[in-house]
Amino acid sequence: MPVTTALKEYANRFNQILPAYFPSPQGAEKRVVEAMSYAVTNGGKRLRPFLVYHTAKLFGISFEQSINTAVALECLHSYSLIHDDLPAMDNDDLRRGKPTCHKAFDEATAILAGDGLLTYAFELLSQEKTHPDSTVRLQLISALSQNAGAFDGMVAGQMLDLLSEENKANLEPEKLIHHIEEMKTGRLISFACRAGAILGKATNQQTEALQKYSRGIGIAFQITDDILDVIGNQTLVGKTLGKDDIQGKITFVSLYGLDKAKALATDLIKQAQNALDIFGPQAETLKELAQFILERDH
Ligand code: IPE
Ligand code: IPE
Ligand code: MG
Ligand code: MG
Ligand code: MG
Repeated sequence: MPVTTALKEYANRFNQILPAYFPSPQGAEKRVVEAMSYAVTNGGKRLRPFLVYHTAKLFGISFEQSINTAVALECLHSYSLIHDDLPAMDNDDLRRGKPTCHKAFDEATAILAGDGLLTYAFELLSQEKTHPDSTVRLQLISALSQNAGAFDGMVAGQMLDLLSEENKANLEPEKLIHHIEEMKTGRLISFACRAGAILGKATNQQTEALQKYSRGIGIAFQITDDILDVIGNQTLVGKTLGKDDIQGKITFVSLYGLDKAKALATDLIKQAQNALDIFGPQAETLKELAQFILERDH
């Protein structure tokens, strides 16, 4: 089965389960849960959950055994998108082909919905359904908090991304860009693969191989995001394009141009695929996913 079909089938299965995670409270505060649910159930490729599942599957873990972790990560990712789109950050009106959370609701509700999703991610990881072994759950919680946080995690990457606008911090662009892309996007993708290794109780060698893979696809994923911002089709991408240039962001494309950015991504994807050789043919889907990340149009 082509990986694009596998990704769609996984997304359908994931989307069917998702509403059960968002029961509506009775009181007027349900507005915030509605905003959370709007942001998470509203499309998306479900790439990170797919990665959790397929890395865990290398160790015999099933869809059901990985779903709570996959949902937790998608909640955290969706919070990062809600806040990324706020007027104080990238000021975007369109996300996943629909009005952004603050447009569909209002700014204050969108901030709270982000807070709610961030917190909910950790609540889900702490549940017994995530894994019967509490040590495994603690490892997941620790890994997600580090990868998502302000000390070398996604939040740190977002800070640098904002400072890169008009190079407000007078930072050296070439050094900065790897760091930004690896942190703001790479870290959550790394967590996805780390989660598979944790759930599957992988050996150190297997964990390292998955880390190498995730590092390569993580940066490459953001490079293709930057490329799509310049030459993508807005209907397919589902976001307002051309914004990085208007906002004066430093990206691989702004620094090196489209061709060199694509060449860098191609190189990273090859390295990522090679890192999986130790898993043999079982890792074929993950290798194909890496190729999809390079060639994607959405
Ligand atoms: C968008 O991520 C934000 C970035 C880190 C580039 P995705 O392209 O995975 O967005 P969805 O989840 O499919 O909407
Ligand atoms: C966002 O990067 C990364 C996040 C942590 C959300 P971008 O700002 O380039 O993502 P898009 O293009 O808005 O999805
Ligand atoms: Mg941004
Ligand atoms: Mg943005
Ligand atoms: Mg972008």
